[in-house]
Amino acid sequence: MTLTMRSSIAVSIILTAFVATIWCGDNDEATDCKSIATVDGDSGSLKISNFSTTLIPNTICLWRMNGTGKKDLKFHVDIEELVLGVNDTLEILDEKTQNKTIWKGTGSQWPGVILLGGSKYSSVLVKLSTSDEKISREWDVGYATTSPNVQLTNIESTGRFALYYDPDADLGLIDLTVILKTKYDSKKLLANVETFDMNGGTVTFDQVVKYSNTTFKTGTKPDFLLSTDQQINAKIIFNKASKDKPKGFQLHYELVDALCSVYTQLTDVDTTSMVNVLLPNTTQWLQSLSSYRCLNVFEHKTQEVKLSLNLEKFSFINSADMITVLDGISYDSRTLAVIEPQFVDFWRHVNLVSSANKLWVLFNSPQVVNTTIEVTNQLGIKAQSQGGDYVFQPNQNATSLKLDDKLKTLLPVVFTFETDSQNQLVIDFDQTTPLTGKSNETVITIYESSGLASVFEPIIELKGGSFPPDFVPSNTNQMKVEFHNIFKLDKPNNIMNVKKTCHSTARGVPSSYSPSGCEEMCLWLIPARNNSIGTYVLKFSHMNLPAKDDTITITQFGADKPKDILNLIGPIVETNTFPDVILDANASYILYTKREKCDAKSVDSSQLFAVSVVYIDSDLITNSWVLKKDENKTIESLNYPNYYSIGNDEIWNVSSSDNKTTIAFITFNDLSLNTGHFLEFKSSISEIHLKDTDVLSQTADSLLSFPFFGRLNVTDHSKAPYSGRGFNATLWPLSCGEYVKLEPKKVGSLKTPDKLDGISQCVWIVTAAKSDKLNVIEFTKNVTKDLDAKQLQIYDSNTIRDKKLVNMELFTNTTPSSSTDTLVIIYNVDPKKNLSMSFTQTECANLCHNQKRCLLKEFSCNNLNDCGDWSDELGCNGTQPSPPAPTPEQIVVHSGVNGWVVTLVICPLFAGLGVLGTLYGPRLLGRFGRGRYREFQDFSEVS
Ligand SMILES: *[C@@H]1O[C@H](CO)[C@@H](O)[C@H](O)[C@H]1NC(C)=O
Ligand SMILES: *[C@@H]1O[C@H](CO)[C@@H](O)[C@H](O)[C@H]1NC(C)=O
Ligand SMILES: *[C@@H]1O[C@H](CO)[C@@H](O)[C@H](O)[C@H]1NC(C)=O
Ligand SMILES: *[C@@H]1O[C@H](CO)[C@@H](O)[C@H](O)[C@H]1NC(C)=O
Ligand SMILES: *[C@@H]1O[C@H](CO)[C@@H](O)[C@H](O)[C@H]1NC(C)=O
Repeated sequence: MTLTMRSSIAVSIILTAFVATIWCGDNDEATDCKSIATVDGDSGSLKISNFSTTLIPNTICLWRMNGTGKKDLKFHVDIEELVLGVNDTLEILDEKTQNKTIWKGTGSQWPGVILLGGSKYSSVLVKLSTSDEKISREWDVGYATTSPNVQLTNIESTGRFALYYDPDADLGLIDLTVILKTKYDSKKLLANVETFDMNGGTVTFDQVVKYSNTTFKTGTKPDFLLSTDQQINAKIIFNKASKDKPKGFQLHYELVDALCSVYTQLTDVDTTSMVNVLLPNTTQWLQSLSSYRCLNVFEHKTQEVKLSLNLEKFSFINSADMITVLDGISYDSRTLAVIEPQFVDFWRHVNLVSSANKLWVLFNSPQVVNTTIEVTNQLGIKAQSQGGDYVFQPNQNATSLKLDDKLKTLLPVVFTFETDSQNQLVIDFDQTTPLTGKSNETVITIYESSGLASVFEPIIELKGGSFPPDFVPSNTNQMKVEFHNIFKLDKPNNIMNVKKTCHSTARGVPSSYSPSGCEEMCLWLIPARNNSIGTYVLKFSHMNLPAKDDTITITQFGADKPKDILNLIGPIVETNTFPDVILDANASYILYTKREKCDAKSVDSSQLFAVSVVYIDSDLITNSWVLKKDENKTIESLNYPNYYSIGNDEIWNVSSSDNKTTIAFITFNDLSLNTGHFLEFKSSISEIHLKDTDVLSQTADSLLSFPFFGRLNVTDHSKAPYSGRGFNATLWPLSCGEYVKLEPKKVGSLKTPDKLDGISQCVWIVTAAKSDKLNVIEFTKNVTKDLDAKQLQIYDSNTIRDKKLVNMELFTNTTPSSSTDTLVIIYNVDPKKNLSMSFTQTECANLCHNQKRCLLKEFSCNNLNDCGDWSDELGCNGTQPSPPAPTPEQIVVHSGVNGWVVTLVICPLFAGLGVLGTLYGPRLLGRFGRGRYREFQDFSEVS
């Protein structure tokens, strides 16, 4: 491989001397590379005689530049064309001091201008040595001795211009003009100052956009240089090189097309229209080009304004076309995008916004094949007053996400934030202040980048009027925030740049989470599903809060003020059984893991718990039931008979399907509540309130009028363990029956409606007034025809669960009476048989030993255990039956797995639960297979 250096470099050798000799006339000094050619004219060229494009390898060519006896000498060697082999050398030698090398370069290291101290060197040799490489070399070099100006007027392509000066030289004031000019009328020069270090010197450019007649000092430089016509003038002034070896001046240049390369200063902001990027826009224009490069440099007059590139109406017409977009207007600006035809759809979705008021768009079309112009094809720029792209500096902890609410800007306002890939971004909201804006309208959408950089997916939408989550973490190092309404977020430094450790947002559901590391606080955000009726179900696979400052808190954010749903405080001994946490999916939740003390001795956070969330597309929290007459219904806590869910209260709104069905009879079959929880039912005729200390045996049957409300209140969330079964009850919707409430000395009664058509069942609950002593109920019944025991059941109890019927046989000669203060009367209606009854309450004279029933005289010594404790059979004719061992209180626990449990267990398994699914999937399956209590089984049990 042959490396060559092809360049239109201007090399000027300036030599100043004190001896005055006037040099006149032009001179072309040719060498045959055998003898030394001596330059003696004011300007001219250094030539190789019989110049052919091939310089012979291993040749040395010498020119002498003799300054002996001259004054104010200024030599230039201008290289218009130079093609040399990599090992060819160009040397400047001081002839007088034993040919000492002043400067030497090989290959591509040529400087543009070499300045030599006049008092030091009076005669120098220019020496070109070719290596043994057989390549085509080119040598077109000029020189001058009287003018300091350098002209490079034949520029055809990319190149460099450099100024080099000998730091040892004793130079006076140098004042030279460099003219760079392209030889094509259709081109402009685009240049970039690469090095500008000239020991206090200045450079003033002319015939360039923006910077004409602007003087730059060392340490400053123009962002870019674009010629107004075909040339750029640079006036360079400096004095004396110092000993600290300044690097000099170096310029890189290239060519762009004159008709479509412009610098545009924008003044409008937040308009719907866009400013077009100038490109060949007629077929005629395009047909005249085989390739083109268009540079559009945009700058807004206001520093704070940002510029965005809009690709919506743009498509490429040639397959090799490429757009380079820089975030700024200097060569070293950050690249915002390199857009190629095959990825234009990708870039259309990317927010291409500058971080300041400057944007650079270079359109390069190396091969024009298609020349068909679509008039509607436009690449545009928009100026926006707010939003933009923010890049975090290393070690920068935070920045402020702010909107100026005094500006009327175009919505949405879009901000993007980026940090390095080990970090993540977390927005810190003021959760106590609701967001401004109409409710039910999204005011902020927050996105994070997906796997592809700069392609964003929404993670949460926040509504006007809602309380935002305390924190919104991204799972990646890029975040986008879109404002659909203008309002202030006053919290300072509200975008935090933190190490990617333990914060996460559930991206899609199902999702799983386990904190890691040893942070004081880790959070997991579960974003709301706006307008959903569904429910989030959180499942903890294991839980272990060994220290007393280890806590897990779940807080709800949304339409209502933030509130804690769950607050678990250690120590909680490691457990594999924990109830599901059900949450209304219409709100957002943060699960905080807090550990005030976490050190090397502490349990790793990942050991504390793992949790997954699934979404159930139905409302498991609020049950809205419409009951039909005589269609009995079971009402029970979620997941019954397994641990009932915590989180949100479970609610029932129950009404009847027709207005004749006015009441429901409710009888409980099971009751087991966790500490602090309660169950309530409220209707206009009655209320039921059952506390955690209530037991089934003391739970009375009730009548509830339609519509009624029920709630399993689990708000008190501080007392683990949560191992209650909840409740199970049966509801009978009825169109006949009522409460009969007795008072002393007042007869109560009941009566069936005159017409019994369409009525199949009536239930009355008759209660005696409470007083210091037990009141029992005497009753008489009046029936058109006799009713058998199947048709009419009179329970001497406040619940039918006891199956304790009034034994009518005992009352053949006396008025029938209850032994308790309640009768539950069930009439399975025979339409031809009307029933009426009357009741009076009487004080009980004698209680059974158990104090629960009245020892009626009919009970005594009949060999029946009427009291329930055999106390009515004591002291009868000396005999005393020995009672059987007491039967334990009966609790009916169904062993079947109801539909809800099945749904929940299957969902995470088949919906791709991720990490948790892999870890606990088999255990869940095992659990489902067993189908009863929700314990997690070890792998060994299933495999
Ligand atoms: C250089 O110039 C001086 C003064 O004109 C002259 O005396 C001398 O011979 C020249 N040297 C050569 C090598 O031409
Ligand atoms: C240039 O010189 C180096 C060192 O002597 C040598 O390794 C290299 O091959 C040479 N390159 C060419 C193109 O001759
Ligand atoms: C300098 O080099 C040239 C060419 O190699 C030679 O002719 C001349 O004598 C040398 N001068 C001195 C002082 O060595
Ligand atoms: C820069 O200065 C030159 C010389 O003074 C003048 O001819 C030229 O018009 C000026 N250019 C601008 C853009 O002011
Ligand atoms: C092409 O662009 C030029 C410069 O912006 C404009 O004046 C001209 O109207 C455009 N022509 C078409 C056909 O769009």
